[in-house]
Amino acid sequence: MSDLATPGKSVLTLRIVAPKHSLLKVELNALTLQIRHHEEQYRAGTPEIPDAVFDELMDRYSELATQLELPEDERIDRKPGAEHTEGFHTAEHRIPMLSLEKLSPNKRGGDGEYLPIGGQLEAWFDRRRQDLGLSEGAPLSVVIEPKIDGVSLSLHYEAGSLRRAVTRGDGERGDDVTRQVVASRAVPTKIGIKGALEIRGELYWPREAFDEHNRDLERQGHELIANPRNGCAGLIKRKDPTGLEAFSLSSFLYQVAWSEYVALPATQLELLHTLEDAGAPVYLSEVFRANFPVDAIRYCASYELKRSNLPFEIDGMVIKIDDLRTWARLGSTGHHPHWGIAYKFPPERKATKLHAIVVSVGKSGKLTPNAQLEPVHLSGTTVSRASLHNFVELARKDVREGDTVYVEKAGDIIPQVVKVKFDERPNNTHSYPKPERCPECNTPVLEEDIFLYCPNPACPEQIRERLVHFGSRRAMDIDGMGEALVDQLVSKLGVTSPDQIYSLTSAQLETLERMGKKSADNLVLGIEMSKSRGLARVLHALAIRHVGATMADDLANHFGTAAELLAFAKRYSEGDESAIEQVAPEKGSGAIAGLARKSADSIFRELDSISLRNVFGGLARACVSLESRTARVQAVEGIAGKTFVLTGTLPTLSRDEAGNLIRLAGGKVTGSVSNKTHYVVAGAEPGSKLEKAVHLGLSILDEAAFLKLLGR
Ligand code: IVH
Repeated sequence: MSDLATPGKSVLTLRIVAPKHSLLKVELNALTLQIRHHEEQYRAGTPEIPDAVFDELMDRYSELATQLELPEDERIDRKPGAEHTEGFHTAEHRIPMLSLEKLSPNKRGGDGEYLPIGGQLEAWFDRRRQDLGLSEGAPLSVVIEPKIDGVSLSLHYEAGSLRRAVTRGDGERGDDVTRQVVASRAVPTKIGIKGALEIRGELYWPREAFDEHNRDLERQGHELIANPRNGCAGLIKRKDPTGLEAFSLSSFLYQVAWSEYVALPATQLELLHTLEDAGAPVYLSEVFRANFPVDAIRYCASYELKRSNLPFEIDGMVIKIDDLRTWARLGSTGHHPHWGIAYKFPPERKATKLHAIVVSVGKSGKLTPNAQLEPVHLSGTTVSRASLHNFVELARKDVREGDTVYVEKAGDIIPQVVKVKFDERPNNTHSYPKPERCPECNTPVLEEDIFLYCPNPACPEQIRERLVHFGSRRAMDIDGMGEALVDQLVSKLGVTSPDQIYSLTSAQLETLERMGKKSADNLVLGIEMSKSRGLARVLHALAIRHVGATMADDLANHFGTAAELLAFAKRYSEGDESAIEQVAPEKGSGAIAGLARKSADSIFRELDSISLRNVFGGLARACVSLESRTARVQAVEGIAGKTFVLTGTLPTLSRDEAGNLIRLAGGKVTGSVSNKTHYVVAGAEPGSKLEKAVHLGLSILDEAAFLKLLGR
């Protein structure tokens, strides 16, 4: 393997990239763990991420599960009764309850750039006009409604009486919650429409009633409910519905899924009027009709400000084609109908008081300023701490203790301080001074780029953070190795480096607080199990600066074993030009995509340090696997040593995946076409690079030809 690093040698030994399939499988497995974790947190009433972010994880899961043809009974988004609660009868939906396609501020195009929401909606209008045979740019009536953040319900009425109320469940079957819904008085039990029909709508807990309930809980010293939606879902699943009317739940009914012997109007707007006339709750005052995407977007965007004044929480707006007669014709995917799309709001922003700035020391010694805030309710959770990122950012925003600041949660778990509300700055505030010493061990700090570091590897806080990270889920995934345990490992058992945990015995662990024989045995088992995670996870777990999960994968794939990696690190840090040129050349990208010279210097220096060599030694002695889990192959002839340019969107491979395939087969990827380019791999909408390639008479491959060259 080390041949790779030697210039002039023609024999390259390379690792096979895990086939695309298995890369996706790895992502799917990781997502499964993530989703399970967040479901647990959600059920426990302690969600760590906003619902919108959870939805995104789930959407990606569904996409991958479909692509990988995961059997239905293994899918966590399809598990029968995924949202079924024990003790409830289930009922099948006559027409499945699907989700909605989303316009999202986080959506990116094939080139990785964010797609503006307006453009996304224009594209959706274009597709619908095409489906309906309308000419380009023709008006197309849509109705826009608030997207209430509650619990969706299917209500079956017959001869004007509510017969059954069912939750969405897994979309095919839901829980029968008729008794609860009736007791809550949130939906009418009688409506002025005869015949039989199924009305769909959203059950929700109005803001005011929810806040009042939480205030009561607080007075009684109970834990608060995270948000109205969780609360509403909990109430409607109460086995005993007695007293549910006291919570003032309410609903918004917006759709008739099917009907028999009922004359219904031809448009969504008229339907909402009909429902209202029949006695159903409908917020016509919040509904608007538009003919063009710009008007629709403008209306949706106006709710970003208006939403906080509404009596219910909304997480977006829903845009629906007004002409109901087209809905069946437009059809649906297994996930969403084509007649509607959801507009998601950008992250919520709130102002709150910043009480203090505290500096934390991270696993690699980085000093981070954090804001301690007056607790504020933001996108589903109560926020009392926010990251200020670094001291340059802190100074740039001029954030001071005592300020009122705007806080935002942009899909991250940790909220951000966006800016100061200067007009509310009190007198006598002071700029926060950049620390000169580590707040934990008092060692003078080092400055690297915009960051400050504590350079003392024996800093107690760093040791603690490193151990917590080592055992964390995405690293070595050692069950039970959370902060509380790590504190004791350090203070009572004298653990200072991750390899030492592999020599802990059950008897030693049993001496710790809150640790019985059984948990000690389980922990030893967890530690044992972690030995087989492979080199990539070990590299990620060691908290080496600039090595996140992706870089750890790349390093493990490229070097194969820790021995090869450490040998290379030694050559690199001794200034071996060929080693440097191989991974971090002066120009263009080297054998490891995205590894810049500065990061490479730091990574290989750290890998070659005595402390890390000792850790690797300890891990090897404990028989922790230090090999990459991807198989090895020879360089692929026809690719090794050749320069490739990627352009356009390939049918199945993303640009990163195609790039990795090339690099791992010994080829090089560059950004622009020149007469040094050997191949141009072109997909849909390739642009000027393809034109240039044709002009220069270069070999142009489509994805199929490219995969053939790779021998796939
Ligand atoms: S139309 C195919 N209209 O949002 C589902 N849904 O993300 C079409 N929701 O499951 C639903 N307000 O629970 C529609 N005005 C509204 C809505 C709304 C809230 C919920 C509903 C649905 C989810 C889709």
